Amino acid sequence: AKAEPLRVMISGAPASGKGTQCQLITQKYNLVHIAAGDLLRAEVAAGSENGRRARECMEKGQLVPDEIVVMMVKERLLQPDSQEQGWLLDGYPRSSSQALALKDFGIEPDIFILLEVPEEILVERVVGRRLDPVTGKIYHLKYSPPETEEIASRLTQRFDDTEEKVKLRLLTHNQNVEAMDGCDSKENVFAQIDVTLENLLQQRKEASGSL
Ligand code: AP5
Repeated sequence: AKAEPLRVMISGAPASGKGTQCQLITQKYNLVHIAAGDLLRAEVAAGSENGRRARECMEKGQLVPDEIVVMMVKERLLQPDSQEQGWLLDGYPRSSSQALALKDFGIEPDIFILLEVPEEILVERVVGRRLDPVTGKIYHLKYSPPETEEIASRLTQRFDDTEEKVKLRLLTHNQNVEAMDGCDSKENVFAQIDVTLENLLQQRKEASGSL
């Protein structure tokens, strides 16, 4: 029997290198690359009502509402090519509600890859990033410069790739992903976990109206 195709999720802060790794992974493993950000940018370019709403959030570095993102991603995952070749989902889920929404549709990955990069490096990566509109390849002026003058002259920049906007994107990311520094003393590590769990409980209580 044919081996089951791979289902991979890749996540990480803005500019942590998800898109770059996805280009390398798909070259070798032939998975269908589904990037939530790319699906949204296509919707923005198409000029639909959802695209207009998405752009407003993206401009502010905020997450686009689940009602737009979840269906978009789910439909792409269920297409025949993704089902047959396997998929590589990039930039989704970005919150626990997004993770649960897919799980409810019976969609789960075989592996979840998290790219961890310190913040000071992320800002430099964003500001230097350029895209080739012809091949879709991701470049960086310093770390992966274009191969020829011709490519260099046609490179473009994303509308949310400024230092000011990446700081907002990072803020959103940090609100949704809880990374803890486990090198600290056990009391300090617990203090970080404790604050997070207390906040979560508080939100639950507020949401259920029991406060
Ligand atoms: P999205 O398009 O997904 O952007 P992002 O998460 O901010 O991630 P990026 O695409 O900026 O970075 P990347 O990790 O792919 O890095 P890359 O490989 O390009 O989302 C944009 C917006 O859409 C969000 O802000 C949100 O509003 C909305 N959105 C998206 N998904 C959503 C969801 N699920 N729900 C709700 N809203 C959603 O690398 C960056 C640069 O670094 C490049 O120049 C590259 O050449 C360079 N580089 C990469 N790796 C290395 C390395 N190892 N060493 C040196 N340089 C490197």
